[in-house]
Amino acid sequence: MTTPTFQINGRTVDLSDSHPTESLLRWLKARHLTGTKEGCGDGDCGACTVVVLDRDAEGRARYVSVNACLLPMGAMVGREVLTVEALATAGELHPVQQAMVDAGGSQCGYCTPGFVMSLFSAWYADLPLSDHDIEGNLCRCTGYRSIRTASDQLNSLPRGEDRFRARLREGMPRLPAAELHGYFSPLVIDDALVLKQQYASAQWIAGATDLGVLLGRGKGTDSTYIALDRIAEMQRIERQDAYIMIGAGVTLARMEHELSDELPVLCDVMPWFAAKQVRQRATLGGNIGSASPIGDLLPLLLALDAEIVLRSLQGERLVPIAEYFTGYRQTRCRDDELIAAVLVPRDAPRQMRFYKIAKRQTDDISIVAACFALRLDAQARIRSARLAFGGVAATPIRLPVVEAAMLDRELSDQLVEEIARRIAASLSPLDDHRASADYRLTLCGNLWRRYVDDLRSAEVSV
Ligand SMILES: Cc1cc2nc3c(=O)[nH]c(=O)nc-3n(C[C@H](O)[C@H](O)[C@H](O)COP(=O)(O)OP(=O)(O)OC[C@H]3O[C@@H](n4cnc5c(N)ncnc54)[C@H](O)[C@@H]3O)c2cc1C
Ligand code: FES
Ligand code: FES
Repeated sequence: MTTPTFQINGRTVDLSDSHPTESLLRWLKARHLTGTKEGCGDGDCGACTVVVLDRDAEGRARYVSVNACLLPMGAMVGREVLTVEALATAGELHPVQQAMVDAGGSQCGYCTPGFVMSLFSAWYADLPLSDHDIEGNLCRCTGYRSIRTASDQLNSLPRGEDRFRARLREGMPRLPAAELHGYFSPLVIDDALVLKQQYASAQWIAGATDLGVLLGRGKGTDSTYIALDRIAEMQRIERQDAYIMIGAGVTLARMEHELSDELPVLCDVMPWFAAKQVRQRATLGGNIGSASPIGDLLPLLLALDAEIVLRSLQGERLVPIAEYFTGYRQTRCRDDELIAAVLVPRDAPRQMRFYKIAKRQTDDISIVAACFALRLDAQARIRSARLAFGGVAATPIRLPVVEAAMLDRELSDQLVEEIARRIAASLSPLDDHRASADYRLTLCGNLWRRYVDDLRSAEVSV
């Protein structure tokens, strides 16, 4: 068996003595690489941002910013990681570090390595730097103005040749299959399923943005994990005549970049879905696999009439997403199955919108999320309707009875109010620390009214 290793700042390190569910952040601290800071430990603040060498959809190497607090060491075998300690060359700061110094972008300095690493990965993406590149980094004392100035200054500098760019040009081969003490990283779905047969209680793990939070809190640290993030067949996006097949391992960042033209509703969702570091790891399959009543993609997939492709060693079966969630965090995915892909019909209704209400504008989980889709005929009568919600029941839900009540009717003010009343009567949300049940019900009716307002003010006449 080969020794499990990874590269940290250009040095190859033996991981044989490492625990697979220890976070990369803790691992770094224990080795005195203390430039990477711990703020929240939950993926929220970006203080722990490091850069991982990865492949883009075309197979080119690129630097990707990720949260070290969410990454289990089991996922690191064979990877290359850079921390802030690696950036200066012979005592000379990297241009992104120098820009932060010149712009006064650091005060206590706790958040600074995280900002630097986010800017570093953006610097090599060869696109203008923007707020989007530092959206996942919080600063409590400097204020963002000088950090933005640093980012603006970088845009006026030439991005010359250096050792980091040379490394990107060398390319990155596909990661090998790996194992670190019960954390398996197979390369094909069938190998993953055979492992699941051998280790029946093992858990699937993909981007680890949900599970990484639990592991960081000491939960599930002794489980066996079968990682899906090296399986190329789960990372495909294929366009068929009737649908787009999106592999369950496709990250949210890729969905945003590669599918927004065909599914413009993704532009409503993604700016509200976590931060860049999380979206670069989080997968479609992980959002469905979490089966959370507040998973943001789930109302969207419900309104799209998506189908889930479940795969076992016996073969594949399709489950319409409307039948997929059977109870609180219960689904029709059997223990011997995984989510291989999602089929999204290509004729998504044009009049489709997603809304999310959360306590903070970005990087917060939903109080309520809603996705609405109407199809109207030439006489402005409703031909089909989809009303889907998250955060108002034990599962994400659609309201087929309310949808049916709209068919063949005009979208008059009277109908809008009738539907708002029917929505409230069909839902029974819970009170919790985020919001009361009454507030949630009010939100659902108001989001429906807002949707109709948005449709009326758009070009589409309804
Ligand atoms: C800071 C932060 C912000 C977040 N913000 C949001 C947000 O705004 N909206 C939102 O919806 N979520 C949010 N999340 C939750 C999380 O990022 C998403 O649910 C994400 O899609 C999970 O994907 P993953 O690949 O990281 O899943 P993992 O953590 O790897 O897995 C999650 C679950 O899915 C299962 N699973 C994974 N892949 C498969 C598969 N192919 N087949 C079967 N089961 C599978 C795993 O066993 C596990 O139970 C946030 C998380 C963090 C840390
Ligand atoms: S410590 Fe806050 S995101 Fe990792
Ligand atoms: S410089 Fe102190 S938190 Fe940002």
